[in-house]
Amino acid sequence: MIELYEFLTGPAVWVSFSIFIGGLLVRTIYLLGVSLERDRVFYNHVDMKWGLRSIFHWLVPLGSRSLRAQPVFGIASFVFHLFLFVVPLFLQAHNMLLHEAFGVSLPSLPESLSDILTIVFLAAGVILLIRRLVKPEVRILTSAWDYFLLLFTCLPFVTGLFAYHQIGPYQSMLIIHIVSAEALLILIPFTKLSHVVLFFFSRAFIGFEMGTRRGAKTW
Ligand code: HEM
Ligand code: HEM
Repeated sequence: MIELYEFLTGPAVWVSFSIFIGGLLVRTIYLLGVSLERDRVFYNHVDMKWGLRSIFHWLVPLGSRSLRAQPVFGIASFVFHLFLFVVPLFLQAHNMLLHEAFGVSLPSLPESLSDILTIVFLAAGVILLIRRLVKPEVRILTSAWDYFLLLFTCLPFVTGLFAYHQIGPYQSMLIIHIVSAEALLILIPFTKLSHVVLFFFSRAFIGFEMGTRRGAKTW
């Protein structure tokens, strides 16, 4: 168990982060190349002002008309994404590992607060899941893979919370936590989770198109 833990918190972290960052870089550069060739028409009305405004209105809570039309989903999605970044980055346990490895770390949230944020994150995940199951117009567009990716994004949060509170067998839970978190990082570049980068391109292009060409906001 100790060797496995050392492997997972050592070489496996390097491998998963390299695939995560390298994969996103390669995918983005490849898609930009394809789009420069095929969507030339987009590039003759690039207007960063419209592009950035479109991105901004989709990043702030309920900043776009379609998010305001479905406020429960809009807020759940905002909370889900905010805590998805905040919890792992500012978690004391993670920062202790970072400190041990590099001697530097980010500030840490008090542990009771990260617990609460983890639970709120999971509640937001449940709302997103229920929406997919209940709304016919969303359900019809949802494949098994979409459910899988939503649930898989929640898995490191469930297993991290269980490990921290020693619910279930501690050592196995911790191993499952680290494996699921590393698997999630590796999946990101190869799936629709790559929207972590591609979102900015899609929104910017929609902004250019609607703004400069049609003079109509999309928010
Ligand atoms: C800057 C980073 C990101 C932005 C701007 C962003 C934005 C979005 C948007 C606009 C959607 C579609 C509708 C919605 O649920 O709001 C979405 C959905 C989703 N995102 Fe992200 N995202 C980001 C990063 C990530 C990352 C890193 C992950 C996972 C590791 C992730 C997981 C998901 C999932 C699972 C859904 C589907 C939710 C559902 O099933 O309803 N996102 N994201
Ligand atoms: C990639 C390597 C990772 C390692 C080595 C790691 C390690 C750990 C450790 C040691 C703990 C504390 C368990 C305990 O107290 O016994 C923990 C907790 C946790 N981790 Fe990770 N983790 C990793 C990635 C992630 C990722 C990517 C996420 C989320 C996307 C995540 C979310 C959490 C959460 C939510 C908790 C519990 C927080 C709480 O309830 O207070 N971890 N992790």
